[in-house]
Amino acid sequence: MENALFGIPNLQVYLVLGTLIFFGLLETFSGHLRASKRTFGDWIQEVGSFFALSVLIKPFIVLIVLTLGSSLFSNQAGILSGQAFWWVFPLYLLVDDVLQYWYHRSAHENPFLWKLHRTHHQAEEMGFFVSYRNAALYYLLMPNIWWVGIVTFLGGGAAVALGLVLKQMVIIGSHSTKKWDAPLYKIPLLRDMMTVVERIIVTPAFHHAHHGRSKVDGVSDPNGNFGNMFSIWDQLFGSAMFTRKFPKDYGLMNDPKDHWSEAYLHPFIKSKNPASELSPSYVKEKTTTKVPIKFEVEKGKAYTWCQCGFSKKQPLCDGSHQGTKFKPVRFVAEKDGHVWLCNCKATKKSPFCDGTHNKL
Ligand code: FES
Ligand code: FES
Repeated sequence: MENALFGIPNLQVYLVLGTLIFFGLLETFSGHLRASKRTFGDWIQEVGSFFALSVLIKPFIVLIVLTLGSSLFSNQAGILSGQAFWWVFPLYLLVDDVLQYWYHRSAHENPFLWKLHRTHHQAEEMGFFVSYRNAALYYLLMPNIWWVGIVTFLGGGAAVALGLVLKQMVIIGSHSTKKWDAPLYKIPLLRDMMTVVERIIVTPAFHHAHHGRSKVDGVSDPNGNFGNMFSIWDQLFGSAMFTRKFPKDYGLMNDPKDHWSEAYLHPFIKSKNPASELSPSYVKEKTTTKVPIKFEVEKGKAYTWCQCGFSKKQPLCDGSHQGTKFKPVRFVAEKDGHVWLCNCKATKKSPFCDGTHNKL
């Protein structure tokens, strides 16, 4: 299975490493790494997870696919190798990225997958290594890594190699603290050009919004912008939110600070903290009532109303919606005073009570 890019052995590995080193040097010389508040556990998760993924998990998955393919589908081995690159390459890349979009989105909407992905969002600072911060099982189940193995088996190794390089460049760039797009928004001509660019590939602004702590800032959308290389899937499937600002706060709204081993090796190592979702004793309970809540607001201030019904800080969102299909509703108070916020979560006029609770 030849997968040399442009005939140069391991070129794709050097290009990905080169991209990491490039952003690493940028972050180092800009003083970001020196000022970083990352703990030892954060570094273990980010750097350790990168090496485990690159050296163990990806090669292991590809080896399994090649072994199974050779014994069960030997007639199909290498059938893409004689095909034109112009269609094999986009086919590989588009399927890869749409698979990752749905896997990533499911990891925010499904309780089990969320626990494998949650550590990615515990990072309170962006940085290129955050790209690789996930539980080991998250990567083992990742469908697009299996797709890499399948296309390699079918003889599309060169398409895989080029796709991996381009995709890693976009992903590392969109996680880095050195936001390549930020200066471009200040120049009128380039600002217009970026309207096109951001509708095709994931920019740092688009992805940083996904890592923002809460929607309340008007910039972040932790339950949107799921794309990895292309933003087209978010636009097609209704989860895109374009912004040109960057969040001030990153991380989870409610972070019990699990030990790195509990996060990286979930569900094989359990958290002992009952407040952590990674603990076997953690229970997500509904906190809804059939009466509205009188809530004091300040004119011009933004709030996020809990829509999922699991918040422990009703009627406001506390981040408990993660792992469900719900997301909070942001609203800005029009005047000082009080409003009646729905707490049965059945209103048709969210976030305000519309009397529906009387029919429940
Ligand atoms: Fe966020 Fe319910 S806790 S929507
Ligand atoms: Fe939900 Fe009134 S409390 S509609």
